[in-house]
Amino acid sequence: MQLVKTVEEIELLRQNGDIVSRTLAEVGRHIRPGVSTIHLDRIAETFIRDHGAEPGFLGYNGYPNTLCVSVNDAVVHGIPSKRELRNGDIVSIDCGTKMHGYYGDSAYTFTVGEVSKEVQKLLNITKECLSLGILEAVDGARVGNISQSVQDHAERSGFSVVRELVGHGLGSKMHEKPEVPNYGKRGSGPRLYEGMVICIEPMINMGKRQVYQCEDGWTIRTFDGKPSAHFELTVVVRKDKPELLSTFKYVEEVLQKKNN
Ligand code: MF3
Ligand code: CO
Repeated sequence: MQLVKTVEEIELLRQNGDIVSRTLAEVGRHIRPGVSTIHLDRIAETFIRDHGAEPGFLGYNGYPNTLCVSVNDAVVHGIPSKRELRNGDIVSIDCGTKMHGYYGDSAYTFTVGEVSKEVQKLLNITKECLSLGILEAVDGARVGNISQSVQDHAERSGFSVVRELVGHGLGSKMHEKPEVPNYGKRGSGPRLYEGMVICIEPMINMGKRQVYQCEDGWTIRTFDGKPSAHFELTVVVRKDKPELLSTFKYVEEVLQKKNN
């Protein structure tokens, strides 16, 4: 597997990243109290297919849906269901696409109605962790630089970092090397080279870091039942400043309109 991508490969990953980013916004437009998580899944699947791509998660290791929809104490890999969202929930929407043999993969944690101050802080800090991690994705750096940036910001804010799941390289497979943990030490881990494409995806818990897998074989929940947040973007390692292949700008346009 070639971890440094060609210009052509990066272009295909960018097209996937754009569809994923716009799918997250389309899902976000429909998030409100009373909407079921399976309804959001249908919206995403339709949107992805209408844009000439396929759902990237559907059938992956037997995964049954287009989205992972993880509510409150669900960290990641929540399976869409008839469960309706309620005022005060947070919901992580993780979305993958596949087109022309390459993948897209991004996630955003949305609020449903009004959430508590502490929950809003968890979301803000987790998104900041992602931004700080992204800044470290430069040529010659080590993966541990990303990891420590994310971990330090989360823990200094009084939150904890999930260890069992990590970010990853992205290409013609959804999970490629290197693994990108959200905890670790600057100067350690694999070296990053210009043209590598990675997904950085902090999963940050309000309470303790421990998690468990549910009987459905997928959903990961916090052991203490407290909420968890998850944001994910795809970036290309560059010389000075990493290049984003996915973006929250469409999501944030939608959220701004919703609040007006
Ligand atoms: N989005 C997850 C990740 O970032 C992958 C979901 S796995 C699936 O690694 F099986 F649910 F598709
Ligand atoms: Co991912």
